[in-house]
Amino acid sequence: MSFKEELNGKVGEIEKLLREFLPEEKGFQKTVLEAVNYSVLAGGKRLRPLLMQESSRMFCREGKELGPFMAAIEMIHSSSLVHDDLPAMDADEYRRGRKTTWVVYGEDMAILAGDALMIYAFETAAKAFRETDRPDLVGACIGILAEKTGIYGMIGGQTVDVELTGKPVPEEKLDFIYRLKTGALLEASMMIGAVLGGADREQTALVGRAALDVGMAFQIQDDILDVTGAQEVLGKPVGSDEKNEKTTYVTLKGLSAARKQVEFYSRRAVETLESFPVRNGFLKELILALITREK
Ligand code: IPE
Ligand code: IPE
Ligand code: MG
Ligand code: MG
Ligand code: MG
Repeated sequence: MSFKEELNGKVGEIEKLLREFLPEEKGFQKTVLEAVNYSVLAGGKRLRPLLMQESSRMFCREGKELGPFMAAIEMIHSSSLVHDDLPAMDADEYRRGRKTTWVVYGEDMAILAGDALMIYAFETAAKAFRETDRPDLVGACIGILAEKTGIYGMIGGQTVDVELTGKPVPEEKLDFIYRLKTGALLEASMMIGAVLGGADREQTALVGRAALDVGMAFQIQDDILDVTGAQEVLGKPVGSDEKNEKTTYVTLKGLSAARKQVEFYSRRAVETLESFPVRNGFLKELILALITREK
């Protein structure tokens, strides 16, 4: 099977998993449930659950608790996108190939849908307690999920990103923003995969380090595509960063240096992962494929 076929198969399975865990659209709060499902089921690369699953495969524990956590991380990611697109933030009207949640459901419902999704993610992750013989591992993973989502993770990064809009940003602050706003959820994905796969503390930390590198590469490539990409392929607008006067790796260092950084971080991530006894060839190929991704 080619890498592409294997990837499509795995993403298809993740789509099914998400449908299993998403809420039914019923009850007096139906509108927010529709907005939640609209936001998650719009499509998307499903990279975070995929990285979680593949990270667990580098270790020898079966990791049967992965399902709820894979769904949870995609819910948190989707909630961050719903809020990121709001008029008060990046004011974007197109995401994952369709109108953004606030355009379809209104700003009020989009705020609530983002909140709902973020907390439903934890409700979902907690379902892992029902099917585990290792509640200690499940508890640790819920802790990782919370830390990497919150003020020391994605939300912290988005805060600095928003605050520095329209202002010059020194490179070390830009690194901080990227490590948190994007890197942290990738760290959570891969670290939770490792923990449920049976990694020890040291191995989990090393997986986290590789994940941060993947995150840096991923956000820099996102900045590049915001300049060089096409809306029909990306499923979201190009030129959003320029419109919002964002300092990015591209504005700071130029396209060619930004491309080199993407390659540097991705290769370093792969090297870090190669130090583990069980190699995961698919994971390596996935990380390297992200260097040249067009969406
Ligand atoms: C977009 O993430 C937001 C960033 C952190 C750069 P993705 O590029 O993974 O978005 P989807 O999930 O595929 O839509
Ligand atoms: C978003 O960064 C990071 C998030 C936590 C959502 P961007 O604002 O660059 O993401 P896109 O380009 O809108 O997907
Ligand atoms: Mg943004
Ligand atoms: Mg944005
Ligand atoms: Mg972007």
